[in-house]
Amino acid sequence: MESGTMEKTKIQMLYEACRVIFSQKELPTFKEILWLRNLIGTFAAIDFGIDEHGSCGSPSSSPNSDKGLICGQGISQITYIHVYECEQFSIGVFCFPAGGRLPLHDHPEMTVFSKLLYGSCYVKAYDWVKVESSPGFPTFGLGGKVLEGIMSAPCETSVLFPRSGGNIHSFTALTPCAILDVSTPPYSEELGRPSTYFMEFPIPSLPGYMILEEQELPEDLVVEGAPYLGPHIDVDNDDDNDRC
Ligand SMILES: [Fe+2]
Repeated sequence: MESGTMEKTKIQMLYEACRVIFSQKELPTFKEILWLRNLIGTFAAIDFGIDEHGSCGSPSSSPNSDKGLICGQGISQITYIHVYECEQFSIGVFCFPAGGRLPLHDHPEMTVFSKLLYGSCYVKAYDWVKVESSPGFPTFGLGGKVLEGIMSAPCETSVLFPRSGGNIHSFTALTPCAILDVSTPPYSEELGRPSTYFMEFPIPSLPGYMILEEQELPEDLVVEGAPYLGPHIDVDNDDDNDRC
């Protein structure tokens, strides 16, 4: 069968949708955001080459099974599966073992779609109410809580924006779980969009708000990389800066 007549894979549809929506000069419209959120909501772990039930024999064994799939239940460290990245957007999946914790971190000037593919996790999310940031000094400020609670799959895709929707968030896996992450634009140290981690300090007289203070990358945070084992993505040849 000619490739032109073959049905597109879901990951191909996601790549093409992101490319159209995030390559425009204008910001995406609300309608486009909703449309993409609905598309992302249809994804399952297997669409990214992850067997959410696979244990690979023992939790300490390699996450790669002999079926050519990543075993969701065999993950022993937080693992990032890099699917695709270009200047405009990135697509990846974070797989967590039970108890894995991604501390509070921000997404500067970014919009991020997050879809819990399987499992349960505890989520906290804040937006800045007031923030002080000067070169050479740790960023700190007042964060207003947007969300705190347990997410269990299947659940709706969440969207955070540069200044709303919970731009600063943390995840603690209650069971093995995986989160699909579509970010626009991607993190970039060179372009002033680093990932910054924060400590939180409650304010007893102000429930629902926290003092958030920048901290160094936590020493105990290890994020391993794993290859993307899902369907091939046909990338547009005009995308010179793709980082598959
Ligand atoms: Fe995040």
